[in-house]
Amino acid sequence: MKYGHFDDRQKEYVIMEPQTPYPWINYLGMEDFFSLISNTAGGYSFYRDARLRRITRYRYNNVPIDDGGKYFYINDAGDVWSPGWKPVKNKLDNYQCRHGLSYTIITGEKNGLEVDVLYFVPLGDNCEIQKVKLTNKSSKSKEFKLFSFVEFCLWNALDDMTNFQRNFSTGEVEVKGSVIYHKTEYKERRNHYAFYSINEPIQGFDTDRESFVGLYNGFENPDAVTEGKSRNSIAHGWSPVASHMLKINLAAGQEKELIFILGYVGNAEDDKWESPGLINKKKAENLIVKYQSSVAVNQEFERLRNYWSNLLSIYQLDSHDEKLNRMVNIWNQYQCMVTFNMSRSASYFESGIGRGMGFRDSNQDLIGFVHQIPEKAKERILDIAATQFEDGGAYHQYQPLTKRGNNEIGGNFNDDPLWLILSTSSYIKETGDWSILDESVPFDNDETKAKSLFEHLKRSFYHVVNNLGPHNLPLIGRADWNDCLNLNCFSKNPDESFQTTENKQGGVAESVMIAGMFVLYGTEFAQICRRYGQQKEADLAIFHVGKMKESIKKHGWDGQWFLRAYDYFGNKVGSRENEEGKIFIESQGFCVMAGIGVDDGKAQSTLESVKKHLDCEYGIVLNNPAFTKYHINLGEISTYPKGYKENAGVFCHNNPWIMIAETILGNGDRAFEYYRKIAPSYLEDISDLHKMEPYVYSQMIAGKDAHKPGEAKNSWLTGTAAWNYYAITQYILGIRPEYEGLLIDPCIPHNWNGFTILRKFRNAVYKIAVQNPEHVSKGIKEIIVDGDKTKGLCVPAFGDGKTHNVTVIMG
Ligand code: BGC
Repeated sequence: MKYGHFDDRQKEYVIMEPQTPYPWINYLGMEDFFSLISNTAGGYSFYRDARLRRITRYRYNNVPIDDGGKYFYINDAGDVWSPGWKPVKNKLDNYQCRHGLSYTIITGEKNGLEVDVLYFVPLGDNCEIQKVKLTNKSSKSKEFKLFSFVEFCLWNALDDMTNFQRNFSTGEVEVKGSVIYHKTEYKERRNHYAFYSINEPIQGFDTDRESFVGLYNGFENPDAVTEGKSRNSIAHGWSPVASHMLKINLAAGQEKELIFILGYVGNAEDDKWESPGLINKKKAENLIVKYQSSVAVNQEFERLRNYWSNLLSIYQLDSHDEKLNRMVNIWNQYQCMVTFNMSRSASYFESGIGRGMGFRDSNQDLIGFVHQIPEKAKERILDIAATQFEDGGAYHQYQPLTKRGNNEIGGNFNDDPLWLILSTSSYIKETGDWSILDESVPFDNDETKAKSLFEHLKRSFYHVVNNLGPHNLPLIGRADWNDCLNLNCFSKNPDESFQTTENKQGGVAESVMIAGMFVLYGTEFAQICRRYGQQKEADLAIFHVGKMKESIKKHGWDGQWFLRAYDYFGNKVGSRENEEGKIFIESQGFCVMAGIGVDDGKAQSTLESVKKHLDCEYGIVLNNPAFTKYHINLGEISTYPKGYKENAGVFCHNNPWIMIAETILGNGDRAFEYYRKIAPSYLEDISDLHKMEPYVYSQMIAGKDAHKPGEAKNSWLTGTAAWNYYAITQYILGIRPEYEGLLIDPCIPHNWNGFTILRKFRNAVYKIAVQNPEHVSKGIKEIIVDGDKTKGLCVPAFGDGKTHNVTVIMG
């Protein structure tokens, strides 16, 4: 069942029914001010850091779910309703929510009154604009009241939901004209405040939650709204909120627009006060003046839309498959931007207080984002690298506000360093900018320990070489990419975390996945060395990579597939000898992506085994048979019920590893079959089962062994976005940035006739028409660039600002 439809022209998903199977959300903001907004106007805002600068309050794990947001209420002669259906939940005559690229439009209509709210964060400013359009569609004049409502968070989101003995006494506000200022803690250590304004005189306001709502009510029936009368309350402690009230008259057919602004202002320490006790409102007032009129707001909105059209124009596909087009051209690119911005911090599954920017996560997010804004990607690479240790190891996460690494979710994940090679090489391939390697980057954020980025990559590489186990395979450390495969942990205590507790001493557990990664990204490192004029380093790297290949062939092969690991005791993990968890996806993907076994049939055999043991209707599960018992030597993976998360769920992040592996063997049919199974636009018709938004990937879809196969969880913030974008654009459609130019090597379903792609690349435009007259999956007969046949598969980086026509004949 569907709950809406794609509007590809507007680049929107249009939800027609407020009661979606789960709140379906969107993100506003791309720089410093961010909001999450659901299809019923739930959600919250923050400045840069969802934990430390939370602007509005949100209660995760609430009943009902998704209560609290950016609400509007109408009291139309005693009939109370909300345009987003929630929180009042009175039946609407019409409802629609359009989630677009960094904006959302929610429209509700009742009794001839239509309320249409456009929510967006303008580029370059720290505020969320809410443009409310009221239309009297009836044939009589209408007099009604409009109430706005937001609830402030006392900045630190974790403290806000735990430290009530202090927090119930700290809240402070100011009200001036139609503007409500939230200034809790401003007088002491903070130099920031929030405000909520409207561009018209108001007839009432509230800033104290209980005065507005009533102690025994919920958001669905606030006293002030029901009675049609604001209390003009001033919050002193308890819970500061902001609500404006306007009395509005509309003649039949008349329209009216109002501009609300929810803003964040930071002042310099010596410029905090207007007069003793009164905050300096200058910056807020400037913003309010700037967005005073609908004309100014509409202009900004247009600018935002153009901004997105430009970003998306860098890679545009035209194929016979509209579901594929909308993933590649719109939604997958959009999700890549959001994951780049948020890492794993704030979604409806990530509370914004737990996880900052992940070392491995953010490096991987870059591969789906780097073509959009390479300069931002560069900055991110340097930020991440600055948290690396001198021995090449890394903090597992860093906080976006301070950009400093921390151990809050553990350290010693031995895959972490290698992802830096992936992100840096992706950046260089996209831009041709080798100078990034010369950048001076601190270790552990200590400037006195700064070395070139190239040196950081080298340390990443040697972190593996210097940490080999008894089979000459990489030591896994706390865990590799699979956070839940904790081979050295041996946790018996339910109160400790698998990721942060002290591991058992003397652990020599080894990872075949890291071994595969090392061959893949080690080879990449060698290429970088060679092109960077470091031939000796390159030779040495190739030597180590060669040794690793041997170790994998000798100790990493199980007969029909690659082993996953060796545990603490040196026993095999992911082997036919195991009772449960005989085969895992990660090592199959990485070893084949690295080309291991392509020459001797191992790669083919591995992928057949994946098909046979791991594939199901909803995607490729992570391992099988699922664990049904707790295996103390394997850790968290065996704590999940079978079919969920890392225990045999379809963990979508790693499915593209197999898609890419299939393309390496030329199996375009199978690569695309795997792609379709998890790409959200293909799942729209089963939204009631899938539950999550049909426009973005989820981290996990319950696998074949689960209670409810096909049900997804944890949408939006997942490495799935970047990896699937990478797999479909670079390996299946096969337009791949390489150091010397644009490599063209599609691997598609054999029955496709072809497709065209417009790719902007290093200051030139490539119009690429791929034709497949012989209906092959892979193979190129000829490539003609601007009328001339080229040698090889690589089209040069022309860099001449011109458009080049590329005809590709497969066969
Ligand atoms: C984490 C990743 C990890 C993956 C698999 C995700 O939740 O963010 O870092 O690789 O789970 O365990």
